[in-house]
Amino acid sequence: MSELRNDPAKHQYELLSGDQVIGLARYRHVRGAVEIYHTEVEDGHEGEGLGSQLAQFALDDVRAQGQQVIATCPFIASYIERHPAYQDLVQP
Ligand SMILES: CC(C)(COP(=O)(O)OP(=O)(O)OC[C@H]1O[C@@H](n2cnc3c(N)ncnc32)[C@H](O)[C@@H]1OP(=O)(O)O)[C@@H](O)C(=O)NCCC(=O)NCCS
Repeated sequence: MSELRNDPAKHQYELLSGDQVIGLARYRHVRGAVEIYHTEVEDGHEGEGLGSQLAQFALDDVRAQGQQVIATCPFIASYIERHPAYQDLVQP
């Protein structure tokens, strides 16, 4: 069973399988926005859609916080390009 969560103490969104973190997206707060600067999925699990699950969860959480996003991570940037509904979150 997998679970998605925000761990504010570690500044990362996490995808868990049981109690094991198998994917994460790291962020920091800058200029009134959330900068997501690195995303990774455990070796051997790439291409299974896990990164996309993390991206969706992270962006929905940023929206719920009323924040904007700075997508320094190229994977998150390309996810937003492929999902234009998130475009309004991008800090100009
Ligand atoms: C990048 C990464 C997080 C993507 O996670 P994933 O679970 O493999 O991604 P998904 O299965 O959800 O793939 C979704 C789409 O993103 C694309 N994609 C994969 N890696 C990408 C990248 N680095 N940049 C842009 N797009 C990427 C895939 O081609 C896929 O497109 P498709 O559905 O048209 O084939 C993962 O491959 C990884 O950990 N890579 C090593 C670390 C890394 O390079 N991180 C990114 C820079 S911070």
